[in-house]
Amino acid sequence: MTTTHTLAAEKLTLGYGERTVIEDLDLVVPPGRITAIVGANACGKSTLLRAMTRLLAPRSGQVLLDGKAVHRLPAKELARTLGLLPQSPIAPEGITVADLVGRGRNPHQGVFSRWSREDDAAVAAALEATQTTELADRAVDELSGGQRQRVWIAMALAQQTDLLLLDEPTTFLDVSHQIEVLDLLTDLNRARGTTIVMVLHDLNLAARYADHLVALTEGQLHAAGSPSDVLTEECVRVVFGLDSRVVVDPTSGRPLMLPLGRHHVREPAGASAGDGAAGPA
Ligand SMILES: Nc1ncnc2c1ncn2[C@@H]1O[C@H](COP(=O)(O)OP(=O)(O)OP(=O)(O)O)[C@@H](O)[C@H]1O
Ligand SMILES: [Mg+2]
Repeated sequence: MTTTHTLAAEKLTLGYGERTVIEDLDLVVPPGRITAIVGANACGKSTLLRAMTRLLAPRSGQVLLDGKAVHRLPAKELARTLGLLPQSPIAPEGITVADLVGRGRNPHQGVFSRWSREDDAAVAAALEATQTTELADRAVDELSGGQRQRVWIAMALAQQTDLLLLDEPTTFLDVSHQIEVLDLLTDLNRARGTTIVMVLHDLNLAARYADHLVALTEGQLHAAGSPSDVLTEECVRVVFGLDSRVVVDPTSGRPLMLPLGRHHVREPAGASAGDGAAGPA
């Protein structure tokens, strides 16, 4: 099973008040694949995701879902197709984990239809997948940052949309839960053909898990394509203003970026090999 939904931005310009954040952006999300968006803080990644789920209206240009402008689709229809996990979601005060995850089912319920067995099954599966079943009766406010993040991911999973957009889904997670969540999203992509678009700050995880990598810089597309084409030393320099080495990750064969800071490198940035000018150890 593969989704055939297409999601694309066409000459998209976004901003707030006087400030333009994204300008004239053309972007095609490959259907049934995993796309990772990377870029410096404040370059417009969250703004782009918001516009794609029509939380923000474009200044000009449009976001097209299956060729139709998302801003003209009925809300429920959109919510059944496209799910978003925002960067800093806010839970209603005092809500329990099970109730919050259950809200992911809202788009599937009609005006009169009640909670169904299918909804129960979807919530149970989402809790299990995110290892939050044992938290079901706890209040969301009382969870640790990482537990809470997994609960939000569970809510997004319970929505069972063909397209899933996640804004930094691995924030707050310890290293094993980061891998667990990215493996889980990959499973979902492989088993159901779910199209995944995620913003990630960890370039190495982005390069490892994405089929398609998008690098933004100041609201414009710097590069898009396979991780090995996009994640280069030049890209890291242009997008993040950082000198780095990019090598082949021996565990995955994908690119692995090693930052060259000013300290703790055998060969500091800018120094040529063997000039012996590394300064005091
Ligand atoms: N609601 C808002 N009102 C006004 N300006 C905003 C609003 N949200 C974001 N901005 C501004 O838009 C720009 C892009 O913000 P955005 O949140 O899209 O960045 P980002 O790439 O997601 O950054 P980060 O990596 O820090 O999450 C920033 O300059 C930010 O200050
Ligand atoms: Mg953001």
